[in-house]
Amino acid sequence: MHVLEMVDISKEFPGVKALDHVSFKVRQGEIHALCGENGAGKSTLMKVLSGLYPAGTHSGDIVIGGEKKEFHRITDAEQAGIAIIHQELALVKEMTVGENIFLGTEPCKHKVIQWDELYHNASLWLKKVGLNISPEVKIGNLGIGQQQLVEIAKALSKHTKILILDEPTAALTESEVSILMGILNQLRSEGVSCVYISHKMPEVFALADSITILRDGRTVATLDRKDTNDDEVVSLMVGRELTERYPRVEHTPGDIVLKVSNYNVWHPEQRQQRVIKDINFTLQKGEILGIAGLMGAGRTELVSSLFGAYGGKAEGLVQIDGETVRIRSVAEAIKAGMALVSEDRKRQGLVMGMDVKRNTTLATLGKVSKLGIINENEEIKWGRRYVQDLMTKTASLETLVGTLSGGNQQKVVIGKWLMSDPKILIMDEPTRGIDVGAKYEIYNLMNRLVEQGVAIIMISSELPEVLGMSDRILVMCEGEFVRELDWREATQENIMVAATGGK
Ligand SMILES: Nc1ncnc2c1ncn2[C@@H]1O[C@H](COP(=O)(O)OP(=O)(O)OP(=O)(O)O)[C@@H](O)[C@H]1O
Ligand SMILES: [Mg+2]
Repeated sequence: MHVLEMVDISKEFPGVKALDHVSFKVRQGEIHALCGENGAGKSTLMKVLSGLYPAGTHSGDIVIGGEKKEFHRITDAEQAGIAIIHQELALVKEMTVGENIFLGTEPCKHKVIQWDELYHNASLWLKKVGLNISPEVKIGNLGIGQQQLVEIAKALSKHTKILILDEPTAALTESEVSILMGILNQLRSEGVSCVYISHKMPEVFALADSITILRDGRTVATLDRKDTNDDEVVSLMVGRELTERYPRVEHTPGDIVLKVSNYNVWHPEQRQQRVIKDINFTLQKGEILGIAGLMGAGRTELVSSLFGAYGGKAEGLVQIDGETVRIRSVAEAIKAGMALVSEDRKRQGLVMGMDVKRNTTLATLGKVSKLGIINENEEIKWGRRYVQDLMTKTASLETLVGTLSGGNQQKVVIGKWLMSDPKILIMDEPTRGIDVGAKYEIYNLMNRLVEQGVAIIMISSELPEVLGMSDRILVMCEGEFVRELDWREATQENIMVAATGGK
């Protein structure tokens, strides 16, 4: 039986047909994966379902348990048993876990919040998702994985029958992912249906009972997991066969462009804590240096410190093209020829309220302005160039970046840094949230840059990507480099052994 049927749903934004007569059905007690390229319409479809886009702003029918429904606000959808966990988490950092779970649904007696009851109930829901924490701690003190589980607890507390997760594992560690999967399997056995959006095929195939693929705002197919495979789903997503995932090119590295010696970094707040310990490495022109390691190994701290964006005390010698440099700010890093594509596009990469072209030129306004006045034609020229090179899906160059799909925002960040014409390009999780087809374009672009003599440092938690693209791999564990591997000798196993502190 289908608990949910979305029939002929269409939705337009100015200049974009995001959904074009989409149909989507979910059975009771199944995990249904929703796959598709960046901008295919996945998040939009789920926002329609969850009442975030009210009835009247789209056409088509939503049928829940055989009954036609109209959602005018989020609470209407919640009452029908639907809860969504968005691509970007939406908890209030300053509030406690319990307050967040019951935000807007606090248990009251004579208009007085019953705190004991609230925290008691909260602890039951936390137990349900396997979280062993007090409901009285502040959300801000939890890691991303734990916050994700709190969101699920919150959704369940509303007696959800259909739980929607939009790319839930993008920022989770491997052990957090397996906890999440365990919980979803448990919910399925209790009859809850789940819509699971992900770009990660191994997860989709480990979890889903059925898979629906969207392309350009249309439903391409709904398949039983048992009757399909990874390659078929990918080719339905991109509309063509994708024979190789990693375009490896033999590079011939040149002179040393970056040399880092005895580098130490301390935490900006816990000043006693040394997050980077005696690191030494070199980077050559025309190579891709992969940095592997578990989340929390210090990879992001290392590169953001080199880039002048970390804040904590740093000691050691940094040389660029043989000259000693002291980089204390991002502006100095850019001047020294560095660029950093950061993992957190919201905080460090983009201004959501500005358009695509201005975000592209933001780090290098000097290139498009004279005496402080921006030449719009120049700006359009550069903006267009990177939209074309990266195949960014945007209605126009004047579209606000905040309205682009997650993956297309990432492409704008990359364009912005390419425009600064760096000698050293640092990419921190460059393809997080990016679909397979677009990943391939980004890899090709990396190869082209390397052939032009750019040196690339790539941090990635996806081992196939590290193995597929790096010339050399440094493995980091607890703030130290523990192993260096040539790509020819590197395997998932020897990287993982080193990353977990083994020999
Ligand atoms: N609020 C909005 N205003 C204008 N256009 C939008 C808005 N939200 C989405 N779009 C556009 O609708 C299309 C579908 O976007 P959507 O976010 O649903 O994609 P997605 O499949 O979730 O992609 P991703 O995998 O990158 O998250 C895109 O072209 C996007 O730019
Ligand atoms: Mg999305």
